[in-house]
Amino acid sequence: MPATNTIIITGGAGYIGSHTIIEFLSVEGYEIVSIDNFSNSTENTYKRIQEITGKQIKQHQLDICNLDLLRQTLKQYPNISGVIHFAAYKSVPESVAQPLLYYHNNITSLTNMLQLCQELKIPNFIFSSSCSVYGNVDHLPVTESTPFGHAESPYAHTKQIGEDIVRNFTKSQDGFQSVLLRYFNPVGGHETGLNGELPRNRPNNLVPFITQTAAGIFPKLTVFGGDYDTRDGSCIRDYIHVSDIAEAHVKAMMYLIHGKNKSKTTVFNLGTGNGVTVLEAIHSFEKVSGLKLNYEIGPRREGDVIAIYANNNLATAELNWKPKHNLDSMMLSAWKWQQHLAKEPLQC
Ligand code: NAD
Ligand code: WQD
Repeated sequence: MPATNTIIITGGAGYIGSHTIIEFLSVEGYEIVSIDNFSNSTENTYKRIQEITGKQIKQHQLDICNLDLLRQTLKQYPNISGVIHFAAYKSVPESVAQPLLYYHNNITSLTNMLQLCQELKIPNFIFSSSCSVYGNVDHLPVTESTPFGHAESPYAHTKQIGEDIVRNFTKSQDGFQSVLLRYFNPVGGHETGLNGELPRNRPNNLVPFITQTAAGIFPKLTVFGGDYDTRDGSCIRDYIHVSDIAEAHVKAMMYLIHGKNKSKTTVFNLGTGNGVTVLEAIHSFEKVSGLKLNYEIGPRREGDVIAIYANNNLATAELNWKPKHNLDSMMLSAWKWQQHLAKEPLQC
């Protein structure tokens, strides 16, 4: 019997990692192994994955910054086809308050993973990057060749540095190739309502704040700025369903495994290509939930870009990927998940 091909997913207990595992479990011939230290998640994620897919995955609780432990763990798998590296800290304000925490965790975990790709001859690597690498842009939509802008936070800086590290490492290694995926604003949850985002504290991001306000956890949502030069005065973003992002990871891994890539490192924007205002997002939520959201227009939030959305033509053409979910479906799935959380908080 041929040895099973293993895909290592770091940060697999987190928001995007768990949705990607769910998606990958439908591909025949691969064993999924998740590595996560639960710094921003819990072991219960794996129960949710099992509930949705009927499958149990292998998992290891460890800090990827510990190179020796990581080496011992990965050596148990003799046939690793690729790594999808999600594990990182991701809070913009926390990174401003504690930059070293972010530089240490996000960069050390990445260099450790790459070091082991070299030692164990793992050929394929996908890195979670972010539209925050573009900073404030002059021309919309942004394409993959739009240059890096000024990083607005240490978090965004770790993604710029991370991309450069992966690129330079890839160049130096024969038989190694990589994809950098720049996500725009991932939102929503699994269509079953059984998996979604679990913000640790008061959420900073719009969609969890909308659903938690609707659930009565917060009395009111503040729209950060109503006097921008946009069609309704609020900021514009490219919200993309987390399951669409997850599917793109599976396609990107297969693209590398089947040698379809034209460059050793390929960058893809993962967005829908549609710019949506904050007020449009709120109105979509109200429509699908049938609820009136208590919100007010407040002052601008420091550091916000006015508008950003993706040109996703490259991912569409090269990966044969097309986002399936519209804004209403993103909001509905986020709301289903919030309702599930209200029913079963201890299981989540
Ligand atoms: P998440 O916090 O839900 O998941 C990250 C997971 O990594 C968590 O389960 C955490 O416990 C784990 N982790 C962190 N550091 C670790 C370490 N040293 N060792 C082991 N495990 C560790 O975040 P997410 O939203 O799923 O994001 C996944 C990736 O996508 C991150 O790299 C993030 O920066 C990037 N990203 C996220 C967004 C977004 O809006 N969610 C947008 C762009 C890019
Ligand atoms: C979206 C819009 C806010 C909350 C962040 C990171 C970025 C990436 C995605 C990881 C903005 C407005 C928000 C609220 C509001 N993450 N808003 N009231 O700032 O686009 O991007 O997440 O890589 O790096 O910076 O996302 O969800 O915080 O904000 O009006 O209570 O909603 O001003 O226009 P953002 P967000």
